[in-house]
Amino acid sequence: CLYVADPATFLASNSVLGPYFPQPVLLSSALIKLRALTRVTHRTVFVSAAGQNTGTMPERRPFVRLPTDVYPVNYGLCLKPDLIDFTFEGKLEALVEVTQATNQIVMNCADIDIITASFVPQGGEEINATGFNYQNEDEKVTLSFPSTLQKGSGALKIDFVGELNDKMKGFYRSKYTTSGGEVRYAAVTQFEATDARRAFPCWDEPAIKATFDIALIVPKDRVALSNMNVIDRKPYPDDENLVEVKFATTPTMSTYLVAFVIGEYDYVESQSSDGITVRVYTPVGKAEQGKFALEVATKTLPFYNDYFSVPYPLPKIDLIAIADFAAGAMENWGLVTYRETALLIDPKNSCSSSRQWVALVVGHELAHQWFGNLVTMEWWTHLWLNEGFASWIEYLCVDHCFPEYDIWTQFVSADYTRALDLDALDSSHPIEVNVGHPSEVDEIFDAISYSKGASVIRMLHNYIGDEDFRKGMNAYLLKFQHKNASTEDLWDCLEQASGLPIAAVMGSWTKQMGFPIIVVDQEQQGDDRILKISQKKFCASGPHNGEDCPSWMVPISICTSEDPKCTKLKVLLDRPETTITLSGVSPDQWVKINPGTVGFYRIQYSSAMLESLLPGVRDLSLQPVDRLGLQNDLFSLLHKQADMQEEKNRIERVLGAISAPDLIQKVLNFALSNFSPLCSLI
Ligand code: BES
Ligand code: ZN
Repeated sequence: CLYVADPATFLASNSVLGPYFPQPVLLSSALIKLRALTRVTHRTVFVSAAGQNTGTMPERRPFVRLPTDVYPVNYGLCLKPDLIDFTFEGKLEALVEVTQATNQIVMNCADIDIITASFVPQGGEEINATGFNYQNEDEKVTLSFPSTLQKGSGALKIDFVGELNDKMKGFYRSKYTTSGGEVRYAAVTQFEATDARRAFPCWDEPAIKATFDIALIVPKDRVALSNMNVIDRKPYPDDENLVEVKFATTPTMSTYLVAFVIGEYDYVESQSSDGITVRVYTPVGKAEQGKFALEVATKTLPFYNDYFSVPYPLPKIDLIAIADFAAGAMENWGLVTYRETALLIDPKNSCSSSRQWVALVVGHELAHQWFGNLVTMEWWTHLWLNEGFASWIEYLCVDHCFPEYDIWTQFVSADYTRALDLDALDSSHPIEVNVGHPSEVDEIFDAISYSKGASVIRMLHNYIGDEDFRKGMNAYLLKFQHKNASTEDLWDCLEQASGLPIAAVMGSWTKQMGFPIIVVDQEQQGDDRILKISQKKFCASGPHNGEDCPSWMVPISICTSEDPKCTKLKVLLDRPETTITLSGVSPDQWVKINPGTVGFYRIQYSSAMLESLLPGVRDLSLQPVDRLGLQNDLFSLLHKQADMQEEKNRIERVLGAISAPDLIQKVLNFALSNFSPLCSLI
């Protein structure tokens, strides 16, 4: 993980799109990282793999998943929040299946007090639980029963109370001020990764899916929302100021995707072309500011319907701006929550980068409705795929819905280059890391998971080609819908669809940190161009000189000046070096590796090849993302070549020829201010 000494700097630098976007939207992990920072300063001493305590902290019990002898089929859940006292009362009636006779039930539970619990076997007598043993550190409770719960179905009934906390996780309170200046609170949820257990006792693991029947008892003048549409709203018998709102049964889903919101909101509504009711909920009086997100969502839903060839399975989707929100946005199924800056657009005052940001965030969270919600990762180890995939397809979607944004150029200038910069550091980590205790999720959740994750999926999509990629995606979604899957399951489906060695290729990018630099030289033989290509690990700190020499399976594409937009040849570099023959390339043509800047690697051209690219740079026949990629590679190489004046001059010449749009120019100026010898270039 990357730690920055000053938390404020850290937070500012950890927004998903980095400093180019004005809104300081944080990866959810930023907050956790902050926690990690605090932990480091408080001197955590870790337990070694062998289980020996290496320092002063008491040994931590190894993490164990929930037992599978009792599992939920349906949760009947009724919650009654008190927006004045910040407490809530809850009633759970879960239909469960006992697979092995037992006299105890273990479930997740945190910061909740259980009042009563009982089990009613199907067709049998109610058995009252005699003990609630809270294992606070493990966030679990064990309910003990005086007699054995036999194999079969039954109803688990639990009455409980909890606090509407101010920690922005679980079931929490969010503060807002009315137009009259009165401070009020909404009750909202944020459950990912493991905070559903703070709202109700549950089996809070992504692979333990069940259906949910949710009811909320709320003040009659408040909006009450949940994952599904309202099916009933009636006065609450005990209090004339309250109503009971019942929601339709959800599909089978994971607990981390459950959500409810109770507060005061306005909304704008529309129907998507495929008949889904879309609403954007805004603070009271700001409905106008929801119109842009509404347009994005109504365009986005049909795009995903078509791309995945699987219809959106719920009758409605709500997008809601929450005043106090820890993450940027959260993909709760049918009720997506956003921080205000990630959803609201002031039509008069918002700039185009704000619109682009909102479009990307909406595109990201709606992609999760399929990839993540319909098919869910089996365990948090696969969360990188969930987030990496959504962070890639949000661009595909925005490019489709708003081609005028030229959004892929933003991807290259933001996510792609950022991932390369971070991943070249010795402090980087593989995107795929085994997660044991869910609290570890937060520790690996950073720009490497999001931006490198998105970049390697973009490379994979390009390697497979859109047609086979979609075929594989569709097979994956159909095979695992309403169930769980692992990263390997996706690779299998893509492998079947394409006939390519996807698991082997992708494993080399996800299981080891870093990336290669591709060294290229060329020779002309008659009408053929012979390319000598080799790979070695790229390190920001100087040449890699560890004994183990990592290598990658690198999809390489090549174009020439004959058609700079079109790939002439694709090869898979699956060894340290190889020779490639490009036929029909005359001596006056230039050859460029990695058109579109889709491969996750840097390129070091021979002096002659680099020089030959100059005309393509000058006449702009090299595409903007290609110039951007070339520029970025050259920058990173420049300070590595500090002792080779001639080569440095050559790089500077090419760099100097690259005309950069305003924004990039500003960024470059800033970057160059850190490399004073280069300042004269721009
Ligand atoms: N599912 C995440 C939010 C999340 C991840 C919450 C892990 C808790 C643990 C959501 O889809 C997401 O990625 N949100 C981003 C914004 C997005 C546009 C990149 C965020 O919150 O920064
Ligand atoms: Zn996400």
